[in-house]
Amino acid sequence: MFGGHDTTTSAVGFALHLLMKHPKVQDKVVEELNQIFGDSNRPATFHDLKNMKYLKRVIQETLRMYTSIPIIFRQITEDVQLSSYILPKGSTVCLFLHKLHYDPKLFPEPDVFNPDRFLPDVVKSRHPYAYCPFSAGSRNCIGQRFGMLEIKVIISGILRKFKILPPLADCPDIILGLDAVLRSLTGIHVRLENR
Ligand code: HEM
Repeated sequence: MFGGHDTTTSAVGFALHLLMKHPKVQDKVVEELNQIFGDSNRPATFHDLKNMKYLKRVIQETLRMYTSIPIIFRQITEDVQLSSYILPKGSTVCLFLHKLHYDPKLFPEPDVFNPDRFLPDVVKSRHPYAYCPFSAGSRNCIGQRFGMLEIKVIISGILRKFKILPPLADCPDIILGLDAVLRSLTGIHVRLENR
């Protein structure tokens, strides 16, 4: 339940927040959805979801900036040399994925929301483990493709019907907190207007 549900809802919430804050990006997602669906209000097919390439980059960038599972732990099974340190066998290592995703050497201007960081050529130029929202290695996320599809279904469904706008009332900005997954302690406030 935790692996499959809270992670995706966290990502959906933060994606809506970012789309509200970046109307030009929102317009580009809508443009892509218009190309896929035209005037039709039919439900999305698996093929449609595969064609949501820009939306995929938006979700990837959301998971970089708001990594649903920001910290994972591993027990070291043999001594590991890490620069001048030795991590002894048996110790527990905390991997701060969220922090990794804000390393300016890997992601220049890390505070800037830029889905084009996930254009294929840009991805190729980075270390394969520079971006690990789904962890990596033998115990990585078994649901990552399914999770991505779920998020695409939800966000595309919302954007086909509604504009995501800033709230009218003065609502607090997000304050990050950790509650098994990354959350906003102050909620995520957006306003929906019919398209
Ligand atoms: C945005 C969506 C998701 C994110 C960011 C995410 C992230 C992760 C991460 C970081 C891990 C590794 C945890 C660790 O090593 O301590 C993990 C493991 C796992 N995830 Fe996901 N996940 C997502 C969606 C899903 C979905 C939709 C499912 C199931 C339908 C799922 C099922 C699992 C399971 C079963 C594991 C444990 C795998 C193992 O230990 O061998 N996840 N996930």
